[in-house]
Amino acid sequence: MTAKPVSIAVVGSGYVGLVAAVCFAEIGHSVICVDNDERKVATLRAGELPIHEDFLAELLARHRNTRLQFTTDLPSAAREAEAIFIAVGTPQSDSGNADLSYVDAVATQIARSIDSYKVIVEKSTVPVYTNEWIRRVVERNGTSSTNFDVASNPEFLREGTAVSDFLHPDRIVIGADSEQAADVLKAIYAPLTSGDYYRSEHAVIGQRTISDPPPVLLTSTKAAELIKHASNAFLAMKISFINAVANVCEAVDANVEEVARGVGLDKRIGSQFLRAGIGYGGSCFPKDVAAFRYVAEQLSVDFGILSEVEKINDEQKRRFFNKVRSALWTFRGKRLAVLGLAFKGGTDDVRESPAFDIIRMLLAEGCTIVAFDPAATERAKAELPPSPSLQYAEELYAAATGADALLILSDWPQFGELDLEKLQTLLRYPIVIDGRNLYDPREMLERGFTYLSVGRPAVYPARETAGARSLR
Ligand code: UDX
Ligand code: UDX
Repeated sequence: MTAKPVSIAVVGSGYVGLVAAVCFAEIGHSVICVDNDERKVATLRAGELPIHEDFLAELLARHRNTRLQFTTDLPSAAREAEAIFIAVGTPQSDSGNADLSYVDAVATQIARSIDSYKVIVEKSTVPVYTNEWIRRVVERNGTSSTNFDVASNPEFLREGTAVSDFLHPDRIVIGADSEQAADVLKAIYAPLTSGDYYRSEHAVIGQRTISDPPPVLLTSTKAAELIKHASNAFLAMKISFINAVANVCEAVDANVEEVARGVGLDKRIGSQFLRAGIGYGGSCFPKDVAAFRYVAEQLSVDFGILSEVEKINDEQKRRFFNKVRSALWTFRGKRLAVLGLAFKGGTDDVRESPAFDIIRMLLAEGCTIVAFDPAATERAKAELPPSPSLQYAEELYAAATGADALLILSDWPQFGELDLEKLQTLLRYPIVIDGRNLYDPREMLERGFTYLSVGRPAVYPARETAGARSLR
């Protein structure tokens, strides 16, 4: 790659920081990744990964100990780097506001360490005006304003496809209020924006190519902060909107997939993020919608739609629970197979997983649950420890064996490719309640299943009677 390598420190090696660090190394920069969790740093130094992401192991192996180092020593890393990315957590506090204490602590440490010009870059999702706070904290701790700039470079990666999202972005947003800071960030992304990276035969494959590199959007720092919150809130709104439409579909026996397709083909709306289900979860949407709502409240802006988005999302889990009840009648003593613990397929992350809320509601009613997830079981056990009423299966069909019904709660691809014949023989009753719409109701009916999904007509084999409806 022709662009000049930049020396980068990334503080925080979670889903966002680690992926950013590895990808910066992949596009030719010299990167030091910092974390205050000694165990995590030791794991990474040993070449192992604390998270599950496609391509990450391969890229870590490619760059570890050459362009990519790991440390707990933030002061040295900050001194060495030209650009310091802050990617520590910004969890939700009780008020809904983002808790910025980690960002504050890191900014303070950076200020006390640096002795030459640095660009301090917000990579974590933060409320508007955080750049101002970082600037104040750094100055208060003795760094002259000529020795640093604060920029905002929000990250739009999705877990599960994080590496390809990072290297093949829809857009790169650089929020900087000084030319010097903007130039450093432009240099960092030059291998992507020039298309050079996509020339390499080892490049991770994705939507971008040499002839169609990602565009850069140069904005003020505040606009960049708002772009991130507004994007996540809008995507969450799309999901809640289609979930509300799904509920209307259920009331009139229409199919939400048909409706979503018809709506999504309008280019002004777009077909993505219109999948009805059990509501959004994960480490971003729930906390970012709450934080954006809080920001608006603080600024006396009436943004009530965000509260509605949250309300619909909460309600969606309860509706699914009621659906399970409608299929089983009573809960006490029933054994349920649960497929999916992660907040979506393709990740081991269980933060704010809607599956957990549903499992908790079912356990409270006296069910026994045997759960399976291809990657998230260990993390799930830390939050919901195994007990006589909650067991974790190591194999998918083991979870289904002897169950009164099978529930699908995450959209892992393999959950959409079940051996239905085998499932028929393993389940005590052929009942599938699908929170992710992975099957065609018609096919499930032909295969003899009672099948309930979201926003689509429920189907019951002919032998089932009371309240049964079939496809028209
Ligand atoms: C987090 C936020 O949730 C997200 O909003 C933001 O955009 C980026 O940071 P994620 O990477 O998923 O996303 O967080 P997490 O996996 O919790 O990683 C944060 C890392 O920062 C952890 O490894 C933690 O040990 C580290 N950390 C935290 C520090 O190194 N120093 C601190 O002071 C605090
Ligand atoms: C999200 C944003 O997509 C990403 O741009 C941002 O940087 C971080 O937050 P992520 O949380 O990894 O990424 O997952 P995403 O794929 O967006 O899904 C979020 C939640 O919404 C999941 O629970 C998912 O199952 C749900 N979802 C998504 C739906 O219910 N329906 C959809 O159509 C899409």
